[in-house]
Amino acid sequence: MAARRPRMKWSVMSQKVQAVIVRAKDAPVETVTIIVPDPGPGEAVVDILTCGVCHTDLHYKLGGIGNEYPYLLGHEATGVVSKIGEGVDNVQVGDRVILNWRAVCGQCRACAKGQAQYCFNTANATQKMTLEDGTELSPALGIGAFAEKTLVAAGQCTKVDEDVDAAAVGLLGCGVMAGIGAAINTGEVKRGESVAVIGCGGVGIAAIAGAQLAGATTIVAVDIDDDKLAMAKNMGATHTVNSKNEDAVEGIKAVTGGFGADVVIEAVGRPETYKQAFYARDLAGRVVLVGVPTPEMKLELPLLDVFGHGGSLKSSWYGDCLPSRDFPMLVEQYKLGRLDLDAFVSERIGINDVEAAFTKMGEGKVLRSVVEL
Ligand SMILES: NC(=O)c1ccc[n+]([C@@H]2O[C@H](COP(=O)([O-])OP(=O)(O)OC[C@H]3O[C@@H](n4cnc5c(N)ncnc54)[C@H](O)[C@@H]3O)[C@@H](O)[C@H]2O)c1
Ligand SMILES: [Zn+2]
Ligand SMILES: [Zn+2]
Repeated sequence: MAARRPRMKWSVMSQKVQAVIVRAKDAPVETVTIIVPDPGPGEAVVDILTCGVCHTDLHYKLGGIGNEYPYLLGHEATGVVSKIGEGVDNVQVGDRVILNWRAVCGQCRACAKGQAQYCFNTANATQKMTLEDGTELSPALGIGAFAEKTLVAAGQCTKVDEDVDAAAVGLLGCGVMAGIGAAINTGEVKRGESVAVIGCGGVGIAAIAGAQLAGATTIVAVDIDDDKLAMAKNMGATHTVNSKNEDAVEGIKAVTGGFGADVVIEAVGRPETYKQAFYARDLAGRVVLVGVPTPEMKLELPLLDVFGHGGSLKSSWYGDCLPSRDFPMLVEQYKLGRLDLDAFVSERIGINDVEAAFTKMGEGKVLRSVVEL
């Protein structure tokens, strides 16, 4: 029998897959067909297994991050590398990876100073994914993973063990890493310290888990939603304050000897909660802003109070993480039973359920909805 000739067709150079986009500010999300090119030099195509719904995706939809519509949403993902481009040597086809939005360049001025966790020149794929009519897509955080496949810079892939739940460890790709890192990297929480976390969504509760991993002994959770406070308690908070009913600053001071916490982590991204964080820390304490504000927000503080409180006011970009160092380390902590990543997965949903997941997020019903692809 004559051997069949391999079918050479256009799909060898690119593939059509289903993905979730938003076409305009506050338009409903849509599941559409997109075209994913074959990887060029330094790029990889990843078959997505799971992708969490992060508040940052909602920020994209609502116009809080930019105006480069259509956005290809989703960025908290686990997948399997299915194709690699020329010169890629950090991953191989078949590797289980978590996608990251900090592909360290090794050469920018931050990297040159040995501070690769701030890398100012992180790479995304050079080629564009498009709609079928050729319209170029802007992938959220350079990832775009509410999609059966996505194209990324190979450096955005961090290889991790396969013998773990993809949905749980994929959350390390953004929100959970941002929260844990806000505590352990940016806040440098030490054994025996007191920590308060304002805002107990996926990011804030991860900050609580991070504070616990780092050995904090007093961990105060603040939120306006009792269900979130109950989740925070399950994840290691020693005290809770519902700031709808009680003054957040007084509530934090009441359980820290009247002084305030050594570290206060703001995980909402609003001026009023930042002010609470600012005043709820002890003298010389640290404030960490991990919540992302929107462009119109302004903050006013008496400069004398900034001076008088001393300490440091820091922002936490992605938990100041180094994916190659922190993702495998946290997967290991999960495997050892010290970090309950399963508790962050509130529900597993399909690709058509992202809009509903945004609604549930707004209603405070979930920590993370995770899309399974
Ligand atoms: N810095 C980073 O690298 C990074 C990474 C991921 C997400 N984020 C940001 O972190 C923030 C939180 O993300 P998330 O996914 O946890 O969101 P989320 O919507 O799941 O959680 C927000 C939480 O804040 C609470 N909240 C709202 N208003 C409050 C108030 N006035 N006082 C106290 N609590 C209040 C809500 O009840 C909810 O529990 C967002 O701004 C998101 O964009 C930052
Ligand atoms: Zn760099
Ligand atoms: Zn995110």
